[in-house]
Amino acid sequence: MPVQIIVGAQWGDEGKGKIIDYLSEHADLVARYQGGANAGHTVAIGGERYVLHLIPSGILHPHTTCYLGNGVVIDPVALLQEIELLTKKDIVLKGRLFISHRAHLVMPYHKLLDQSRELADEQHKIGTTGRGIGPAYVDKVHRMGIRIVDLLDETTLREKIIHNLEEKNAILSALYGQSPLEAEAILHEYRELDEQLDPYITDVSRALHLGIASGKSVLCEGAQGTLLDIDLGTYPYVTSSSPTSGGACTGLGLGPTQIDRVLGVIKAYTTRVGMGPLPTEISPESGIDLRTLGAEYGATTGRPRRCGWFDAVVANYAVQVNGIAAWAVTKLDVLDTLAEIKICVAYRYRGKEIKTFPADLAMLEQCEPVYETLPGWQESTAAVRTFNALPARAQQYLRMLTEITQTPIEIISVGPNREQTIFC
Ligand code: GDP
Ligand code: IMO
Ligand code: MG
Repeated sequence: MPVQIIVGAQWGDEGKGKIIDYLSEHADLVARYQGGANAGHTVAIGGERYVLHLIPSGILHPHTTCYLGNGVVIDPVALLQEIELLTKKDIVLKGRLFISHRAHLVMPYHKLLDQSRELADEQHKIGTTGRGIGPAYVDKVHRMGIRIVDLLDETTLREKIIHNLEEKNAILSALYGQSPLEAEAILHEYRELDEQLDPYITDVSRALHLGIASGKSVLCEGAQGTLLDIDLGTYPYVTSSSPTSGGACTGLGLGPTQIDRVLGVIKAYTTRVGMGPLPTEISPESGIDLRTLGAEYGATTGRPRRCGWFDAVVANYAVQVNGIAAWAVTKLDVLDTLAEIKICVAYRYRGKEIKTFPADLAMLEQCEPVYETLPGWQESTAAVRTFNALPARAQQYLRMLTEITQTPIEIISVGPNREQTIFC
């Protein structure tokens, strides 16, 4: 498939990293289109486990070229740490990793503002990753952001940092009791970081256009997930970018006519980190502990993830807003030991059944899931490599997901490792 978008269909952590790594075997270019170091994409190969925050998960196949598009917000400190970590594991990055000169930078005051805001107001807390993502996108939209191109010229960079600090220092000290940040210290730090980033900077939109024109296949890598989308997610409990497929066009400088297909990555159940509604959340009293079974702890912050049953209202909404053509269903093996498995097929709101995903969070909070219960297969699927070799009840569960979402399943993941994958 020439140009394919890989999008998370739930609240993030669907296993996008694993699926992108798997698909990268047959891809030439892999390009991240939004988000920043808030993402944590885990890829397990052999005994080695890689957690990628900014660098596309396609980097672990040596033949790929990887890009960070203009829609990504780049924390140079986090990026250089990741580059160092991968270099130590003998992964070559020079000549294979490129960053858009139009991408915005995450600055030290963004991280401080993000963390201070979260600490200061328990009532309005989002449960962010504290990586400065919200404040960086606020400055972008407010037209105060500092971009990678701005690193080139010391005078412009100094002027922009001073301008930003006039506002940020006032907020940091008046609202959060923080000491003011020094412009010259930030300037010095970012000029030094720029020297190290310099070999990676390019015009990503143009590079992708040239690649597509010469017949290369492209994976557009989404971070986070549909329900964390700033426009289409469970606002305000969302991230500050556009993880949905539309974000790939603006975030990479591609036109919609250049996209061939959208693949949705979806867990066989549901998880979310941070605040906000999760209609199918399983209570601890139920005795069903998907968090332990699925090792559901955040790859970026280590926070425990909240877990729930598969929610078809969410899945159908994800198909609608992303134009998903097929699914990659992950973590099927996590359900292996359960005697019964539930699927939420609708919500009940004030006595009525609804199948559309509500925009109003107060309404969503009051929605009760309507479940269908299927028998569990209670056999290990971890070593299964074909659909037909799956236990009959696992096949039945997957057929039900296909039927209810009217979307075929193309990939099934039965474990964290690269080879624990079924291509249907
Ligand atoms: P991402 O942010 O969407 O890339 O997902 P994360 O990497 O944050 O979370 C997915 C977690 O599940 C990681 O620890 C993966 O190694 C792991 N994982 C991915 N696919 C599977 C699977 O099919 N089965 C199991 N048991 N673990 C998986
Ligand atoms: P990947 O790419 C899961 C959540 C945070 C919080 C909200 C806002 O690994 O799927 P932010 O720091 O972005 O301002 O936090 O979004 N969040 C994620 N949840 N997976 C992620 O990324 C996430 N990135 C942000 O927990 O609720
Ligand atoms: Mg993750």
